[in-house]
Amino acid sequence: MTRPPSSAARARPVVALDGPAGVGKSTTARALAERLGFVLVDTGALYRGVALAARERGVPWSDAAALGALAGALDLRFEPASAGREGGRAGEPRLLIDGRDRSDEIRTQEVAQGASEVSAHPPVRDALLGLQRRLGAAGGVVLEGRDIGTVVFPDAEVKVFLTASNEERARRRVDDLRARGQAADYDTVLARITARDAADAGRAVAPLRPADDAVVLDSTRLGFEEVLARIEGLVHAAMG
Ligand code: DC
Repeated sequence: MTRPPSSAARARPVVALDGPAGVGKSTTARALAERLGFVLVDTGALYRGVALAARERGVPWSDAAALGALAGALDLRFEPASAGREGGRAGEPRLLIDGRDRSDEIRTQEVAQGASEVSAHPPVRDALLGLQRRLGAAGGVVLEGRDIGTVVFPDAEVKVFLTASNEERARRRVDDLRARGQAADYDTVLARITARDAADAGRAVAPLRPADDAVVLDSTRLGFEEVLARIEGLVHAAMG
C-alpha cells in the first residue's frame, strides 16, 4: 500500500465525492469539475475496466490473485471527452484500456456487476490505489467513488457523501441507461441497485461508508443545482 499523499503539497483542493450507485455522483462530479476548472476522475470506471478486461481474458471475477495481477498490468488512462462523439454522455472523460477507448463498453449493467465483484478483492483495490492517488496528487481534482474520503484521500480538503433513497436512485439510473440507448426496467434496476449497494457496503475491504469528517448530503429531495451549490460552497470555503 502506498502512503496517502500530503495535503500540504497541494495548492488546490482534492474533492472526494463518494456514495452509492445511481445517486447522481457522476453527473454532479462532472458539473462540479467543469465549473471549478478541476480535473475529473471517475474511479468506478477503473474497476469497470478491470472487470471488462478480465471477462475478455477469461479471468473469473472471483479470482482475487489473478485479478490483482491483471489490474496491475493494465494500462488504464483517462482522456478528456472529445466534442461531438456518439454514445456516452456529453463531457464524460474517456477510459482507455491498453490504448483502446472502452468507455461505452464499461457502461453496461453486466460490467457494473463485474465491477462490484472485482472491487471486493483487496489485490484489485491495492493495484488501483497508487494510480488513483497519482491522478489526484496535484489537487484541483474531483474524484468520485466509494472510498475516496476514507481510503484513497483520507486528507482530502472536501469530502462529500451523496445519498438518496433506493427508489429515487433506481429512477435516476433508469433515466441514465435509457439516455445511453439501453433498455432498462425499473424493478430490475431497483433490485440490482439494492443488491449491489449491500455488497459494496458489506464487503470487508474499503466498504461503502461516509468518512467520519464527510458532509453527508441526501439528494432525494434536493434539486441538482442545490446539491451542486452546496458542494461548490464547501470547495470555496476550503480554498479560503
Ligand atoms: O460508480 P460505479 O457504478 O461506476 O462503480 C462500479 C463499481 O466499482 C461499484 O459497484 C463499486 C466499485 N467501486 C469501488 O469499490 N470503489 C470506488 N472508489 C469506485 C467504485
